[in-house]
Amino acid sequence: MEKLGERALKEIEEATSLAALEEVRLKYLGKKGEVTGLLKTIGSLPKEERPAFGAKVNALREAIEGHLKEKTAFLERKALEERVKRETVDVTLPGNVPQVGSLHPLTKALREIVQIFYGMGFTVYESREAETDEMNFVKLNLAPGHPSRDAQETLYLTETTLLRTHTSPGQIRGMLDMKGKLPVRFIVPGRVYRRDQMDASHSPVFHQVEGLVIDRHITFEHLKGCFLEFARGFFGPETKIRLRPSYFPFTEPSAEIDVSCTICKGKGCPVCGRTGWLELSGAGMVHPNVIRNGGYDPDEVTGFAFGFGLDRAAMLKWGIDDLRVLFENDLRFLRQFEGI
Ligand code: PHE
Repeated sequence: MEKLGERALKEIEEATSLAALEEVRLKYLGKKGEVTGLLKTIGSLPKEERPAFGAKVNALREAIEGHLKEKTAFLERKALEERVKRETVDVTLPGNVPQVGSLHPLTKALREIVQIFYGMGFTVYESREAETDEMNFVKLNLAPGHPSRDAQETLYLTETTLLRTHTSPGQIRGMLDMKGKLPVRFIVPGRVYRRDQMDASHSPVFHQVEGLVIDRHITFEHLKGCFLEFARGFFGPETKIRLRPSYFPFTEPSAEIDVSCTICKGKGCPVCGRTGWLELSGAGMVHPNVIRNGGYDPDEVTGFAFGFGLDRAAMLKWGIDDLRVLFENDLRFLRQFEGI
């Protein structure tokens, strides 16, 4: 009995899993177990030996049960510890942060511009990108043969349709949609297309923002004041503007509008070619023919218009020196605008 006890304890000691331990339990205490077998022999003993034998076997059973219980608790604790270790989450590791996109700098720039013009009572007129030759050129005083119509610059879709080369046809469409109501006061933002090779300052597709105001008694001063308000709002309150005489078939008189250099604040630097000024926009008083083509009477109303490159404006605002980064979707570039 003593040997059986030692053997049982040794086996309990050596069991390394709950399953192995259960086998040991069955081997000794199960229905056909060795200790159970001993108890069954009790009846074959002489009466006087039975109590002492029974007590011994019971003590043995209790000892084995006790050890089994202890070992079970130990193995369960160990299994739990291993599971905790295995399933532990290291909360100090960087989390799986979902990738959240942000607005493209051109979208941000345009939204700012729209807000500034909203503040001056403008609305946004969205015109079409596929245009007729008539709208893109003829109605804007660009007679056949004008250099801007050169096949080198215009992407034609058919003989008579094309991808607009500027947002100015939006002037005509916007006016026609107003059906003679006053005042006409909108901007036309959007993509424009030219047959250009891509380089640091050219792209076959870029963006313009057109502006048009038509009303009674609109003068050149309104153009200046309006554009200055925009330039200050977009580039900063210290921004100055300068108008130089220019020529566009659809405005008369016409001007080129410069803004004081956003980098050197007008002192002169390599970006502005040491002039302190940056060329930004074409502008002028709307030509009487254009007013007429929009369904208004040039003897009754006057107006001004301007058109500038959105891409260029964004580049000047943020000191971007290559147009291509605006179209390449390089996240290293785009991420710099996340918080702006
Ligand atoms: N459409 C002209 C261009 O693309 C810009 C412009 C717009 C000039 C409105 C005058 C008035 O260069």
